[in-house]
Amino acid sequence: MEINHYISSWLFTLILALAPLFLLLKLKQKCVSTKHKLPPGQMGIPWLGETMDFYRAQQANRLFEDFVQPRMGRHGKIFKTRLMGSPTVIVSGAEANRFFLSSEFKLVISSWPSSSVQLMGKNSIMQKHGEQHRHIHGLVASSLGSASAGSLVPKLSKLVQRHLDAHWSGQERINLYHFTKNLTFHVVFECLLGIDVEPGMPEIFERILEGVFMPAVNVPGTKFSRAMRARKEIESLFVRVVRKKKEELERENSVGGGGGNKEGEAVLLPRYVAAMLRGEMSEEEVIDNMVLMVFGAQDTTSFAIAMTFRMLAQHPHCYQLLLKEHMDFKSRKRGGEDINGEDIKKMSYTWKVARETLRLFPPIFGSFREAIVDIDYEGFTIPKGWKVLWTTYGTHLDPEHFPDPTRFDPDRFDEAMPPYMYMPFGGGPRVCAGSQLARMNILVLLHHVATRYDWSLIHPNEPVTSNPLPYPVHGMPIRISPKRRSID
Ligand code: HEM
Repeated sequence: MEINHYISSWLFTLILALAPLFLLLKLKQKCVSTKHKLPPGQMGIPWLGETMDFYRAQQANRLFEDFVQPRMGRHGKIFKTRLMGSPTVIVSGAEANRFFLSSEFKLVISSWPSSSVQLMGKNSIMQKHGEQHRHIHGLVASSLGSASAGSLVPKLSKLVQRHLDAHWSGQERINLYHFTKNLTFHVVFECLLGIDVEPGMPEIFERILEGVFMPAVNVPGTKFSRAMRARKEIESLFVRVVRKKKEELERENSVGGGGGNKEGEAVLLPRYVAAMLRGEMSEEEVIDNMVLMVFGAQDTTSFAIAMTFRMLAQHPHCYQLLLKEHMDFKSRKRGGEDINGEDIKKMSYTWKVARETLRLFPPIFGSFREAIVDIDYEGFTIPKGWKVLWTTYGTHLDPEHFPDPTRFDPDRFDEAMPPYMYMPFGGGPRVCAGSQLARMNILVLLHHVATRYDWSLIHPNEPVTSNPLPYPVHGMPIRISPKRRSID
């Protein structure tokens, strides 16, 4: 009784204290809407807005179906809401993608939660704008471009085979999603950065990833503070690696031969360090961008691979066509010769399968931008400071762009796609810097699995959840056996 009385008088005082604040908020909202024509939509309850509906839909991996689509039905392809305290406009369609993504730095800038910024580092590419962004983005993209594929593919192929030998040989069942996550980690470290993976490193990174979308509360016991400690561990390791590479390059420069990449050498780290020696990047920038590479690559590529296997299992005729493509490559190789960068370019059916999978199951739902000026779009005003969320699904599932959009049909990609319609890797200046590595990783793994193993899904309709990136709830276990028919 005492306690009840205490709680109700406490609540009464709280409501009285907050009432003027709510009124002020409402008044401010009203002023904004009379000055500008805001997009239609509901802002939900104060501060929280529609965040809980958003989270619920995200957890079920039904953000588009349960949150975006019903609101699009009511309000159209642009609507407003409030998420995590921020007024937000959600936009869909190729035209909106083009408008907002190509206006990066002019009308909008990318916007990440404070926890992501602190864990990836405030010097990473995601926090860079304009010329500084262009420079780092260019370094990553050119390291992975077709000129580099020649040296990267053989290295990647050896790594994939080593992992299959270590984790698949003699096994009857493996967990595909966890396998690809571990593989992708090694790909980024060994092929891209040139660092040997030491025992325990993937676990440290996992701890960082667990904090990336948590509230940025650095209090002992929270996931975020665990993640910050893990980040410090990785930082000190990377500092050692970067300084060692710097010394190597300085030595080479002093004898007149340094600066470039040696053939077969991991491509990105020497480029970063060379930029550091030229005074174009600081040590902090190099380290933060190394951390970001792992973050950008791991969950995205693993989910793409897992869902590609699922699509192949559900569409056996597609698997037969894919298998034929790889058997043909294999039969043209003599005396254990491995696949190379040229072969990758010719794996056209396999890439169509992967692209169609990425259309139906894009690992990135979309991403947030922040308006840096008042933006006029489609007769509405998006006030400065508001968030804009563009989505991949908004075009991928639009029957106008992709007839019978939920049908899996790799042959859709026989025809060229107009820009900003197919968005798994984003678009504009912030288009995925690692898409070429993702492509090589997917194709090389599929090649070796298809030519060496028979496999089947243990749970053909395994649910997918997301936190906030999607993953299969059981880690996609598959049954495997060495290929019965020898093709050597
Ligand atoms: C299937 C795999 C992948 C998918 C679906 C994917 C998707 C995306 C998307 C949609 C964006 C744009 C985000 C935005 O607009 O804010 C992006 C950016 C980025 N991705 Fe990827 N990604 C993949 C693999 C990779 C890999 C393997 C790496 C690194 C090796 C990587 C590194 C990056 C980086 C550094 C950015 C930021 C680019 C910038 O801000 O300029 N990604 N990715």
